[in-house]
Amino acid sequence: MVPYQKNTLSPMRLSCMKDMGLISTGNLIGTRGKYLKILSILGSPRKKGNTAAVLGWVDEALTEAGHQVEQIFLGSKNINGCLDCGKCKENMEHPGCVQKDDAPAIFDRMMAADAVIFASPLYYWGFSSQMKTLIDRCYCLYRGSCGALDHMSFIDGKRQALIVTAADAFENNAELTITAFQRSLVYNKTTSAGQFMVCNTTTPDALSDGIKSQATAFAGQMFTETPAPYALLIPGNAPHLVPVDK
Ligand SMILES: Cc1cc2nc3c(=O)[nH]c(=O)nc-3n(C[C@H](O)[C@H](O)[C@H](O)COP(=O)(O)O)c2cc1C
Repeated sequence: MVPYQKNTLSPMRLSCMKDMGLISTGNLIGTRGKYLKILSILGSPRKKGNTAAVLGWVDEALTEAGHQVEQIFLGSKNINGCLDCGKCKENMEHPGCVQKDDAPAIFDRMMAADAVIFASPLYYWGFSSQMKTLIDRCYCLYRGSCGALDHMSFIDGKRQALIVTAADAFENNAELTITAFQRSLVYNKTTSAGQFMVCNTTTPDALSDGIKSQATAFAGQMFTETPAPYALLIPGNAPHLVPVDK
């Protein structure tokens, strides 16, 4: 196997990738009034479930604010598990995954977007298998050792957000998704656009107007100049904010 190489992306290559739309030219810090290209990923197998409802409200608010939102439903995609073959790490100009399924097209979209929203139901204290499989495949999006000088990412500087819905309370239940999400940001060289947890769910019909308002408020905070990443816990109809980055 070819050893890990230093990032050899030349300025010309970077400019080329931007022209091809593989790397976004958008302002990734995200300021009010700046319209972003957002990839919204629904990781529930249920197209009309709780996660879809919450993500739909967030997407709607972002669209109304002028952003360009594209949603991908993972339930209709064919995505295999990461093989840990290491072939991707030999390619310094492209994610380079050798698997011929629907994941590489999603990586192209991630690279073309300014921000990605990962939305998943809580399954056994973690992500749904659909979402976890995609997250594992994101292994091909970075090179070098995390934190080392040769550490580079094809989605460097972009923003990522997490939305989770769960049937039970947040405490002793959904916390691990936040930890995993925040740690993955370091590998991806991305920054958080916030975490939104909707707990104690039953059916989509039972999601209250209060939750819809909070989803809209969350969307409004995602790409502000001074983003305030937070976990929004919704026990029944009494939402409260809990800072998670402090
Ligand atoms: C396989 C499976 C595992 C689950 N594990 C948990 C869990 O660990 N904690 C929890 O609070 N809810 C759990 N749930 C409930 C879902 O997270 C919850 O109903 C969620 O809102 C479903 O979202 P959806 O309608 O978008 O699929 C589980 C559901 C399934 C089907």
